[in-house]
Amino acid sequence: MTTASANHPVLAALRGIVGNTHVLVDGDLSAFEQDWRRRHRGRALAVVRPGSTREVAAVVRACSLHGVPLVPQGGNTGLVNGSVPDASGTQVLLSMGRMNRVREIDQANLTMTVEAGCVLQAVQAAAEQAALLFPLSLAAEGSCTIGGNLATNAGGTQVLRYGNARELCLGLEVVTASGEIWSGLSGLRKDNTGYDLRDLFIGSEGTLGVITAATLKLYPRPAAVMTALASCDSLAQASALLRQAQDTAGPALTAFEVMNTLSLELVRRHFPDLRQPLPAAPWTVLLELSDSENASHARGVLERLLETALDSGLATDAVVAENLQQSHDIWHLRETITLAQAQEGLNVRHDIALPISRIPAFCDATDQAIAQAFPGIRLVNFGHLGDGNLHYNFLAPEQADSTSWIRLHEGRITSMVYAAATGHGGSISAEHGIGIVKRDALMLHKSPVAMNLMNAIKNALDPNGLLNPGCVLASSRNAHDSARGR
Ligand code: FAD
Ligand code: LAC
Ligand code: ZN
Repeated sequence: MTTASANHPVLAALRGIVGNTHVLVDGDLSAFEQDWRRRHRGRALAVVRPGSTREVAAVVRACSLHGVPLVPQGGNTGLVNGSVPDASGTQVLLSMGRMNRVREIDQANLTMTVEAGCVLQAVQAAAEQAALLFPLSLAAEGSCTIGGNLATNAGGTQVLRYGNARELCLGLEVVTASGEIWSGLSGLRKDNTGYDLRDLFIGSEGTLGVITAATLKLYPRPAAVMTALASCDSLAQASALLRQAQDTAGPALTAFEVMNTLSLELVRRHFPDLRQPLPAAPWTVLLELSDSENASHARGVLERLLETALDSGLATDAVVAENLQQSHDIWHLRETITLAQAQEGLNVRHDIALPISRIPAFCDATDQAIAQAFPGIRLVNFGHLGDGNLHYNFLAPEQADSTSWIRLHEGRITSMVYAAATGHGGSISAEHGIGIVKRDALMLHKSPVAMNLMNAIKNALDPNGLLNPGCVLASSRNAHDSARGR
């Protein structure tokens, strides 16, 4: 840290608000300053760890008074660089981890109110202790926070049945850019009183306000959950299997995930201890049924579905988990793909959404176009087919120097993928958000009208541009944007 920043007058104010021990300025701050993918290392003026909503409000007011920008951070598992400071050393990193209390569970209303820094897994566990279900689930659930989930409108593996984080939230408490507290912790399922402020803050990635607490929807726990794997020769067959599963199981179908050959090969290579129940196939489908009756009913439905798929040639192989452990093991395979991909080396990531009906055509055309343009490139394609969401990622050719190859070609690969996705009626961000990484692409792919509306909202709610500047939208107030890199 430079002497100038060590003496910054805001630091004394921050220490007065949260206490000396919760203002971190030296030592190893990499856990806060480096993004999960290790693509960007920033530098914070200080890491501030508030313990209450009032403290958050006071921190925001102090920063506002001194013109100091703030970057809110939850578990720092975001994949688009939105949760880390830029390299300037002028931004305060607001770490929400100490705000991790469950405030209330309302059994009769099927809701729970939790603070933003609660780790998702702890939220799920608190619901389970009350014999209820909080269905949001993603591979980073041991570290990501509910505040981060809402700020990014996270998706995950249960969206097919329960919706994104947005659909699971009934109310919010938010500290505004001027340091006021908006208490919108409603447990109402119907409330048409003017503009929906909650939905404005959800998905705003820390650029419009700091989420300090949320009231979440809970559900009865299903009596049984059954998991299966099936092999398919093509994405067209996997899509047809999805339609068949929707017709047969209806709302009991809670997950439908796909993994291409290389996705599972990477897991085999980097996590050889994980047992893979089916031999390699062009596509492996993970299906999950949740049943309100009992396990044998769920198993019966799943087995009939898979038998029909095998008989009709939609699937070439299938296996149903025999018990909870096998079910966990199957999910573990799916959730390890991102880690295995990271172990393999630098990669080009895309989190795209498409109409499900267009996915086979999109992949046929785009796989081929990219393979022709970049001979030897390796496609790691997996994701939430039931939601029309693919993680359409690439690794450098085996023989290439991965880092330099990716740096050279990443921009062109991504342009081709985004043009193809939007050409098929899709989106350049399905569930991970825009952050810094996709900010320029957002400008290219949204209409000027949409961009003007978004900028107007930002200017109205954060007129001084101090909340997560440069994230989602180009910052009007500083020139540090490019320092946050890709
Ligand atoms: P952070 O990374 O800390 O922050 C993310 C963004 O939210 C930043 O812009 C930050 O400024 C803002 N923010 C954080 N907290 C607050 C707050 N309290 N108030 C206002 N703004 C805030 N995402 C999915 O959607 N689906 C998946 O299946 C999925 N799987 C993943 C698997 C792995 C292995 C990893 C590493 C990530 C995965 N992600 C997935 C991405 C990531 O986990 C989610 O985006 C998650 O919701 C981020 O939560 P977080 O607490 O880590 O937020
Ligand atoms: C997943 C993350 C990458 O679905 O979104 O595993
Ligand atoms: Zn995902």
